[in-house]
Amino acid sequence: MKKVRIALLGLGNVGKGVWNILQKNGGEIAQRSGYDIEIAKILVRDVNKDRGVKVPKELLTNDFDDIISDDSIEIVVEVMGGIDPTMEYILRSVRKKKNVVTANKMLIATHGKEIFREVEENGVSINFEASVAGGIPVINGINENLAANKIEEIKGIINGTTNYILTKMTQDGMDFDAALQEAQEKGYAEADPTSDVEGFDAAYKLAILAALAFETEVDINNVYKEGITNIKAMDIEYAKEMGYVVKLLAIAKDVDGKLELRVHPTMIPSIHPLANVNDAFNAVFIKGNAVGELMLYGRGAGELPTGSAVVGDIISVLRSEREGSNISLSHYTDKKVSRMEAVEAEYYIRMTLVDKPGVLGRIATKLGENNVSIYSFIQKPVKGDFATVVLVTHKNLEGNVKKALKEICEMDAINKVENVIRIEQ
Ligand code: NAP
Ligand code: HSE
Repeated sequence: MKKVRIALLGLGNVGKGVWNILQKNGGEIAQRSGYDIEIAKILVRDVNKDRGVKVPKELLTNDFDDIISDDSIEIVVEVMGGIDPTMEYILRSVRKKKNVVTANKMLIATHGKEIFREVEENGVSINFEASVAGGIPVINGINENLAANKIEEIKGIINGTTNYILTKMTQDGMDFDAALQEAQEKGYAEADPTSDVEGFDAAYKLAILAALAFETEVDINNVYKEGITNIKAMDIEYAKEMGYVVKLLAIAKDVDGKLELRVHPTMIPSIHPLANVNDAFNAVFIKGNAVGELMLYGRGAGELPTGSAVVGDIISVLRSEREGSNISLSHYTDKKVSRMEAVEAEYYIRMTLVDKPGVLGRIATKLGENNVSIYSFIQKPVKGDFATVVLVTHKNLEGNVKKALKEICEMDAINKVENVIRIEQ
C-alpha cells in the first residue's frame, strides 16, 4: 500500500470529524483510495487544549512553518476557517505544489478567483465539497454528475440554523427569540448568530454554487441577502392559512442570460419538496435542461457529515489520475446579475392601518397605479388601535412593488408596512 502524508489546519468541529472518520473507516478508505493516509501534522492555536479526541500530542503544532517546510506532506486540509491567515496558508501550500482541501465557504466565496488562479498556475488541485451544505455532495453533483446540463435554477435551504429556527416557529408556534435560544442550546446556532440569521452564511454558499453552476465569476456583493429576524409568528400563521411554509431560500436563476442571486425568507407551497425539509437539515433543488428537477437532501453541518465531505475530497485527490490542476477559469464568463428591482415575484405584504372607510380602496388604487396586480386582500380582525391587512400580489416587478409601498406608507391612515415576503411557486 502506498503512503500519503497529509496535514490538517484546524482541529475543531470539522477537524475532529476528519480525524474520527480516518480512524473509524481507515481500512475501507485505504482500499478505495489506494493509499494509507497518515496525518503528519495538525495546526491549532492552542496545543494544550483538551479536545475530547485522542490525538498524539506530537502531531499538534501552532507553527505553520512545520507544515509548509515539510516536503513529504502532499495534501493540506484546511478546516480552520476565516480569511486571515488562512488565505496566506492556502496560497503558500499551493505554491509549494501541495494539493488543498478546504471547508471554508467564506474564503472560497470571497477569494475563490485568486486562489483558483494560483491552483491552476501551480498544477495542483483544490477541492471544497464541504464548503456548501456540509455532507451533501452538491458541488461534485454540479461539477461532475450534472456536467451534461445547462443548469437553469438552484433553490436551496443551505443554512441549518435558520431552518431549525423556522421549523420551530412553524411546528411549535415559537417566536423568533425563543427558537433562536433553543437553536443555541442545541449547538446549531453560535453565540453570535449574525452570520446565520442575517443570511451571510447562505449568501457565501449560494455564491459558490452559482459560480460553478453558471460558470461565471460571482461577486459576493451582488448576492442579495435578507435574514429571518423580521419573521414573526403571525407571518408563519398567515402563510399556513394560505398553504405556504416560510423558508430561508437561496435562489440562483438564469433568466434570459442574466442571473438572479438572492437569499431571503420565502413562502413556498407546503407541497413543495423543500417545504418538508425541516430542523437543521439542508436541501438543494436543482433544475437542469437535461436531467429536469432533482433534490439533494441531508445534513449541512456537524462533525461527521462535514468530515465526510472533507475526507471524500481527500480520496478524490488520491484517486485522481488527471495531470495538472482540477480547476480552470478559462471558460468562465462574467454574467450580469439582475438588481432586485428587476426581479419578478409574488409578494405577501402585511400592514397595519387605521380601520376607516376608503383606506383599502386607496391602497388598491396605489398598487394599481404602480402596475401591481393584487391576487388576494384580507383584513384580519382589529386588535388594539390598528387593523391588520394581508395582501398577496400576482407576479410583479419588485421595483414596482417597492415604489407602491413607499407611496402607501406616506398615507395618513397607514401605520406601518410590517413585512414583505416573496413567494415562489
Ligand atoms: P472551529 O470548531 O472553530 O475550529 C477551528 C480550528 O481551527 C480550531 O482547532 C482552532 O484551533 C484552529 N484555528 C483557528 N484559527 C487558527 C489560527 N489562526 N492558527 C491555528 N489554528 C487555528 O471551526 P469548525 O466549525 O470546525 O469550522 C472549520 C471550517 O469548516 C470553517 O471554515 C467553517 O465555515 C467550515 N464548515 C464548518 C461546518 C460545521 O459544521 N462546523 C460545516 C461546513 C463548513 P484551537 O482549537 O486551538 O482554537
Ligand atoms: N452555520 C451553518 C449552518 C453550518 O447553520 O448551516 C456551517 O456551514
